[in-house]
Amino acid sequence: MTKPIQIAIDGPAAAGKSTIAKIVAEKLGYVYIDTGAMYRAITLKALNEGINMASNTEAGKLLAETEIDLQPSEDGQLVFLDKKDVTEAIRSQHVTKAVSEMAAHELVRLRMVELQQQLAEARGVVMDGRDIGTHVLPHAALKVFMSASVEERARRRFEENKKRDILTPLEELQAEIAKRDKMDSEREVAPLRQADDAIYLDTTALTIDQAAQKILKLAEERLV
Ligand code: CDP
Ligand code: CDP
Repeated sequence: MTKPIQIAIDGPAAAGKSTIAKIVAEKLGYVYIDTGAMYRAITLKALNEGINMASNTEAGKLLAETEIDLQPSEDGQLVFLDKKDVTEAIRSQHVTKAVSEMAAHELVRLRMVELQQQLAEARGVVMDGRDIGTHVLPHAALKVFMSASVEERARRRFEENKKRDILTPLEELQAEIAKRDKMDSEREVAPLRQADDAIYLDTTALTIDQAAQKILKLAEERLV
């Protein structure tokens, strides 16, 4: 049997990371970990409880009292916040608009990275996010930086939203994505950037299957 590896997939919003990471994980029999879902879950709780994140005491208390759990499901992954299923709730525009500010908080990142590293310990994982190759799994055997033009990414999110009856206009989605990318790239703690040893994959003109095949091929080259 080959030794399982860690695969890190980073990139801007709606590049196709989670869709493709799920397929790759399933094909390899690995665990898929959507780290964005964890930042979304803590954002949902802070919004619901009106936590003042500018206060490190309040932020620390929130983090200490919050349980975030990811469980594999047929569609990829279920997200539990304090034992409640929030898989759908964390995708709302309300959470999407607030998540990047939350993710720039140093205490939040420290706690999330600690949880993510525990989840990845001693097993084959495909983890997607913004800082996986640079901070969470710096020794991952395969690192991919996935991107696509902002127009294509907005179009994809628009089509995805339509299926879930979310009707945010395309222009608004594109502006929200661009704003979030900028905040994620310019924050001080663990900004979104391509790791030096990551492979760049532009999915603008690729189907989901083509992108997944490319990553699977790269993974196979690294399996011994
Ligand atoms: O799916 P989408 O690309 O819209 O976003 P996501 O992967 O669910 O991530 C939501 C937000 O969480 C991002 O815009 C980042 O602000 C933050 N995030 C992060 O800072 N670090 C990660 N490893 C993953 C997400
Ligand atoms: O995880 P991330 O935010 O990077 O993107 P995603 O949620 O996996 O993908 C956003 C949308 O683009 C999904 O509805 C995918 O089905 C779609 N997609 C696509 O149409 N073509 C690709 N090559 C990749 C993703």
